[in-house]
Amino acid sequence: MQSPLHVAIIMDGNGRWAVRRGLPRTAGHCAGTEALRRAVEAAPELGIRILTVYAFSSDNWKRPLDEVDALMSLLAHHLGRETPRCIESGVRIEAIGRRDRLPPDLRDAIDAAENRTRLGKRLLLRIAIDYSARNSILSAADANSRAAIETALAASPAVDLLIRTGGEQRLSDFLLWECAYAELIFTPTLWPDFTGDDLRRAVQEFTRRERRFGALANPAPAMPVERERWLR
Ligand code: IPE
Ligand code: IPE
Ligand code: MG
Repeated sequence: MQSPLHVAIIMDGNGRWAVRRGLPRTAGHCAGTEALRRAVEAAPELGIRILTVYAFSSDNWKRPLDEVDALMSLLAHHLGRETPRCIESGVRIEAIGRRDRLPPDLRDAIDAAENRTRLGKRLLLRIAIDYSARNSILSAADANSRAAIETALAASPAVDLLIRTGGEQRLSDFLLWECAYAELIFTPTLWPDFTGDDLRRAVQEFTRRERRFGALANPAPAMPVERERWLR
């Protein structure tokens, strides 16, 4: 089977990584940004065209204020620092999720990163910040008719492979609609330890899976139309 076109990652385990080292949880988030850079570097050569990563869930607002503040400034800093590298390597950055509750400097950093990387064609990096899949589906439903809802949801590409690090085996309100037929890989590796090789191994595991999309294995099921759109 071919490589997954759209990989989604729940980057979990930063806090535990830090606590195990006697460090503050924020040190884990900081190390997590390095793991994200490694994944972005490795993805295009593995045939991945879209990488959607869960950076901050809408439920993460429930965490202590100092951790939330640190995450917000780390994300702004990361976007600013990585944008030149992304421009150079053809990576287009896009944020998904709510923006109205983000601090202004993070909103500005997102706008600048999206704008400056908009011509990138090698990889679309979608960073989910203040993201809730249930809220995204409800927002689409505001469109009011079934056709409009389907159009709104089809704008978000189906996930081929979802990886969650950190050992938990749940979706935590990430891409519920898009993962309808995603292959799932759960690994105990904590996100700051995740390497380009780990991503390559996950892709290899994906290629060994048999996807049937509800049909029978033989003859091979047709590629979903939506996938063809992204392969153009
Ligand atoms: C994931 O790591 C990052 C965010 C949720 C922002 P965690 O902070 O959830 O790390 P653990 O799960 O507590 O180890
Ligand atoms: C999911 O991880 C959110 C991110 C990785 C950004 P959490 O650590 O917040 O999820 P739960 O609370 O374990 O389900
Ligand atoms: Mg966690």
